[in-house]
Amino acid sequence: MILDKSYQIAKVDNRIYGSFIEHLGRAVYGGIYEPSHPEADEQGFRRDVMELVRQLQVPIVRYPGGNMVSAYNWEDGVGPRKERPRRLELAWRTIETNEMGTNEFADWAAKVNAEVMMAVNLGTRGVDAARNLIEYTNHPGGTYWSELRKQHGYKEPHNIKTWCLGNEMDGPWQVGQKTPYEYGRIAQETGKAMKLVDPTIELVACGSSNSSMPTFPEYEATTLDLAYEQIDYISLHQYYGNRSNDTANYLAKNLDMDNFIKTVISTCDYIKAKHRSKKTINLSFDEWNVWYHSNEADNLIEPWSVAPPQLEDIYNFEDALLVGSMLITFLQHADRVKMACLAQLVNVIAPIMTENNGRAWKQTIFYPYYHASVYGRGISLKPILNSPKYDSADFTDIPYVDSAAVLNEKEDEVTIFMVNKHLHDSIVLTADLRSFEGFALKEHIVLENDDLKAVNTKEREEVKPHNKGKSVLREGILEADLPKTSWNVIRLA
Ligand code: AHR
Repeated sequence: MILDKSYQIAKVDNRIYGSFIEHLGRAVYGGIYEPSHPEADEQGFRRDVMELVRQLQVPIVRYPGGNMVSAYNWEDGVGPRKERPRRLELAWRTIETNEMGTNEFADWAAKVNAEVMMAVNLGTRGVDAARNLIEYTNHPGGTYWSELRKQHGYKEPHNIKTWCLGNEMDGPWQVGQKTPYEYGRIAQETGKAMKLVDPTIELVACGSSNSSMPTFPEYEATTLDLAYEQIDYISLHQYYGNRSNDTANYLAKNLDMDNFIKTVISTCDYIKAKHRSKKTINLSFDEWNVWYHSNEADNLIEPWSVAPPQLEDIYNFEDALLVGSMLITFLQHADRVKMACLAQLVNVIAPIMTENNGRAWKQTIFYPYYHASVYGRGISLKPILNSPKYDSADFTDIPYVDSAAVLNEKEDEVTIFMVNKHLHDSIVLTADLRSFEGFALKEHIVLENDDLKAVNTKEREEVKPHNKGKSVLREGILEADLPKTSWNVIRLA
């Protein structure tokens, strides 16, 4: 590898380390909010969970959905709790008690030092509900909705800056699914009204629910064509799984993500050219993760209960490796991917799990997310890497080693992130780092495990990093041992 200070991709937008809390399963109730828990604060928020979220330094959290938002009446979740209605929640077929809503979530986000990324309902509702909601959250006062917020105890506006125009509107599972044209038009008109209320906001339009959707990338092209002036970002969502238990193929799935990102960039730039526009639309990868372990269990859940254990994937070691590779992929596209949300944050396909009335604990995927979020801030550099390659069922020429590097000029640090995907062999990295004169090796963190299927539980952390990685830096040349199937974080300062 050659890594040079001046091979710069772009400044990393810290919001690529965002996450997501949906009113789904035990994400909210029993996750972030559990008033009867011994660790609950005066608002019912679990302190132990907040502490883990703070450790992750999550900069932005998407809310309240997800599929749930497409039939959500935001008005149900504000005002006195005892007057809030219990509703059928159609996306996940549960009961929504509305004990948590917009104001409480804004409070929780402030407590964990995160911004809110708010989604509006473009499934069953539209322009009117969205412009009222933003008047409620962002307008200082003197009007119906802003005064109502004050009556609800929130004198100051929340000033939410980032807004999603609906969720996965191309999906047949979505309440109020839209054709590309229907969605493009409602996004355009809703965006227009919202920016009239608050011109300082940024808007994310829905792209496709994943790259296999039959309307991909036409959905993006039509939406961008219609709403180009109103929107700032287009969203991407993607989940992966290892259903065929083919780890070599599974660990290569970030190549699919890379291709997805490149196609969406091309689509954005094609519409930019078509419009003769100077404005560049960037990407918000606002749902990404591994999701498949819990699928069967979810089919057995009875409908219409409150906060059942839905989408509770228990992640293993190989999942953490793919999560690491996906984070590397975002860093490689730091010039265009400006936001990304690990979906989700607590209990629901999440790095943090909780026991009702019990402990909070870290899943395997917590660690690559933590390392990238904490050490991956600064300028994304382009490593020139010559890696051996392999082929798998769905991919060819897969580099065994994925890599990204971030220069943090403020801290005078450089961090190299690497995944070795080789199932049997360690790989010796030789890296020319001569442009980093005066830097010394600080630590080499490794996440490794002989069992690809090893998981963490509330009692035992089977998968956790150590910092005894074998690296030597001599006269600007780094020699590092990347153990078989491992996530590596090499820090120099
Ligand atoms: O994150 C779980 C679900 O996945 C979200 O509600 C939806 O947007 C996506 O299909």
